[in-house]
Amino acid sequence: MKTFTIDTKGRRSQIYVGRKMDELDQMIPPNAIIITDRNVDAIYGRLWEKRHKIVIGMGEKNKTLATIDYIFSRLLDFGVDRSGFLVGVGGGIVCDIAGFAASTYLRGINFAFVPTTLLAQVDAAIGGKNGVNFKGFKNMIGTFNQPEFILSDPFALQTLPSEELHNGFAEIIKHALIADAGLFGFLQDHSSALLDLQPEAINHLIVRSVEIKSAIVNRDEREKGERRKLNLGHTFGHAIEKVAGISHGKAVSIGMVMASKIALQKGYITQGQLSEIVALLQRVGLPVEIPVGATDLIDAIYMDKKRENDFVHFILPKGIGQVLIEKITIHELRKFIF
Ligand SMILES: NC(=O)c1ccc[n+]([C@@H]2O[C@H](COP(=O)([O-])OP(=O)(O)OC[C@H]3O[C@@H](n4cnc5c(N)ncnc54)[C@H](O)[C@@H]3O)[C@@H](O)[C@H]2O)c1
Repeated sequence: MKTFTIDTKGRRSQIYVGRKMDELDQMIPPNAIIITDRNVDAIYGRLWEKRHKIVIGMGEKNKTLATIDYIFSRLLDFGVDRSGFLVGVGGGIVCDIAGFAASTYLRGINFAFVPTTLLAQVDAAIGGKNGVNFKGFKNMIGTFNQPEFILSDPFALQTLPSEELHNGFAEIIKHALIADAGLFGFLQDHSSALLDLQPEAINHLIVRSVEIKSAIVNRDEREKGERRKLNLGHTFGHAIEKVAGISHGKAVSIGMVMASKIALQKGYITQGQLSEIVALLQRVGLPVEIPVGATDLIDAIYMDKKRENDFVHFILPKGIGQVLIEKITIHELRKFIF
């Protein structure tokens, strides 16, 4: 097991990578309430059969204030007071919702995450951004608040559909492009082992991703500067997710290709590097072509919460393993897409 710490003004949060889900029960207080989704409850529900639980539906359409309303009602039914403790067990959607509910109920109660998808283990559960979508726009309403701990058990990935595994690779490739050319090479060399969930290779990816993300969050929790780098592929990604209705990981994959193409035009990467990025994404089962029209995409970007007046802080790869944060106007983005 490896332990990482996120130490921010708000609180100190421990991340346990490689700890067994079976240990959860002994790590949480007797009054802890589990929030999970129907799929995860059906597979792992025996681990919390003696506890109160709140089970939500699957998919982005449930990441809304209506689900938060439902959770608050259940918390009231259970008589949860300020000593309450919530545990989100599931993918990024469950973690985002459970974190937001815990951060706002009674002005905030303690919480923890047990991420059960690759994407949540390497990204969504880490960093304390909790939120829900609003009127179809991604993560419009939310908080920055760190959980008490994150228990990350790679064995949970054994039950994950392969499609969901692919989604997780998108965020790992993002981490490699941002900060670690060695990780990019590792992904290129071990893609088959990784798709077969070879434990050592998967463990390396999770550990390295958590290391990269937690270090950035420790330096800039509130995304005033360096944390923006983690949005590589996300300006286009969120817009594609909204317009095309495809999964977060797939949308981020396409978004990273679009950012890389802009980087090529600006001379920050070579044609060879662009081809390597595209080939790696394809090798781990991710899409690389834009599935929607340019006008719809620009309209969606215009509503992105990261937009400030007429520009966005856009993240562009600079070679492999480094990125630049550039203010790009919506007008300039339009020129790149059309
Ligand atoms: N807060 C953040 O910093 C952050 C970062 C990245 C992504 N996100 C968010 O994360 C969400 C995507 O998360 P996701 O990709 O984990 O999707 P998800 O939460 O929808 O989970 C994917 C599917 O896998 C199922 N599942 C989960 N664990 C399983 C397991 N062990 N075995 C079998 N099935 C399992 C779920 O029921 C669901 O159907 C998006 O809403 C995205 O915006 C948040």
